[in-house]
Amino acid sequence: MENSDDFMAKIVALCKRRGFIFQSSEMYGGINGFWDYGPIGVALKRAVEQTWWKYMVEDRDNVEGLDSTIICHPMVWQASGHLANFADEMTDCTVCKKRFRVDQMDDPTTCPACGAKAMTPPRNFNLMMKTFVGPVFDEEHAAYLRAETCQPIFVDFNTIRIASRQKLPFGIAQTGKSFRNEINPRNFTFRSREFTQMEMEFFCHEDESMKWFDYWHEQRWNFYTKILGISEDKLRIHWHDKLAHYAKKALDIEFLYPFGWNEVEGVHHRGTWDMSQHAAYSKQEQDCRYFDQERNATYYPTVVETSCGLDRICLLLICNAYDEDTAATQKEGMDEDARVVLHFAPRIAPVQVAVLPLSKKLEEPATDLFRKIRGSFRAQYDVTGSIGKRYRRQDEIGTPFCVTFDFDSLNDNAVTVRDRDAMTQERVPVAELAQWLRNKIDK
Ligand code: GAP
Repeated sequence: MENSDDFMAKIVALCKRRGFIFQSSEMYGGINGFWDYGPIGVALKRAVEQTWWKYMVEDRDNVEGLDSTIICHPMVWQASGHLANFADEMTDCTVCKKRFRVDQMDDPTTCPACGAKAMTPPRNFNLMMKTFVGPVFDEEHAAYLRAETCQPIFVDFNTIRIASRQKLPFGIAQTGKSFRNEINPRNFTFRSREFTQMEMEFFCHEDESMKWFDYWHEQRWNFYTKILGISEDKLRIHWHDKLAHYAKKALDIEFLYPFGWNEVEGVHHRGTWDMSQHAAYSKQEQDCRYFDQERNATYYPTVVETSCGLDRICLLLICNAYDEDTAATQKEGMDEDARVVLHFAPRIAPVQVAVLPLSKKLEEPATDLFRKIRGSFRAQYDVTGSIGKRYRRQDEIGTPFCVTFDFDSLNDNAVTVRDRDAMTQERVPVAELAQWLRNKIDK
C-alpha cells in the first residue's frame, strides 16, 4: 500500500505536468496558498461548477441565482461576526520561525517542524483579507475580501425575492471566490487562501426548517454519489456535536482524501441568525423580515445552508479518478507499460472526446469531424505520435472516448471509438456518432 505522501506527490506532479493545477506566480517562487488552474484544470473546474449550477439552480423552480461583488460594505462583516470572531489561534516557533494553528497541533508546546519547546503563547489571528477602497489608505477606507459567498445572499435577500416574485420557501445560490488568510495553507489546494465556494441559502419558516434540512442533506449526498459518481464508501457524514447557539443541526460531508477523511461540504441549519443580525446592524428590518400571507405573520426567515468548496471537489475528483494499470496495454500496440488513467465521470471530464487521425494524410476529414464534435462536447484534436501514445496522453487527463479516423473511414463513413476504462473499441457510423456519445456521456 502506497503511503499518502507519495500518492499526493504523484497527484501534484500530474496536475502540473498536464496543466490541471500549479502554483501561482511560480517564476517568483510561488505564493503560499494560491493556485492557478491550467487549460485542463479550468475545463474540469467549469464543468463541475456548471453541473452544480444546473443541479442546484436551473433544474429547480425554487432556487434563484446571484453573482455579487467580492468586496462588500464593511458593515456586512461586522454584522456577520467575521470581524470580531473569524479567527484561529496561532502560535510561532521562536527557533525555526514557523507558524501553526493551535487546533492542528498534537502538543501546542512543541514545534511540529523542529521539535523545539519554544512556542509563543497562542494568540488570535483574524482570517479576513483586508484592502482599502479609494485613494486614502486609512481605517476609514478599509474593506475586506469576502470570506464566504453567503453573506451577500442574506443582504440581497429581499431585492431578489421581489424581483423573482418568490414566496418562502425558496433558495438563493451563488458561486465565486472567497478569501481567507489561512495561517497554514496545506494539502495542495485543500486549504487555500483564495478559493471558490458554491453556496445555497434556503429561506423557510422555522416550523419547516428541519424538513428542509433533511431534504438538502439528501440532495447534496446525491450530488456526490449520483451526479459526480463518487462511490459511497469514500464519503461519510460527520454530524457536529457542538452546535452554534442558533443552529438546530449541522453536518459535514467528508471524503476520504489521501491525507484522511476531510470536509468537502457543510449542510447547516443557521436559524434566523443571519437575517436578524443584518436587521440589527443595517436597521433595515423590512429587508430582513418576510410577510407570510398564508400564516398572516411577519418573521425572520430561518436559513438552511449548503456550502461546498469547488477546489476541494476538483481535488477529490482527481484523487478519486487516479489509477495506474498495466493490463491490456499491449493490445493497443504498446509495450506492456504502466498507464496512468483518470476515471472521471464522462459528464465532468475536462476533455470528453479526442479526435485522432490515424495518419497525417487524414488530417482534412478528421479536422472536419473534430469541428463538428467540438460544438457539442469538450473535445481535443491530436495528430502527433503513435496512436498508442495518444491514447496514453488522453488517459492521463481522463478523456473517456477517443475517436480514431482511419483509412477505412473514408469508405465506410465510420470511426473507431475507444473506451478509456474498458479499452474496448467499437465501430460507429459518423452520422450516429454525436448521439452515440451523448447517450454515453449523459448516462
Ligand atoms: N458559509 C459557510 C462557510 O463558509 P465553511 O465550512 O467555512 O462554511 C464551506 O466553508 C466550504 O468551503 C468548506 O466545506 C470547504 O469545502 C470550502 N473551504 C473553506 N475554507 C477553505 C479553504 N481555506 N480552502 C479551500 N476550500 C475551503
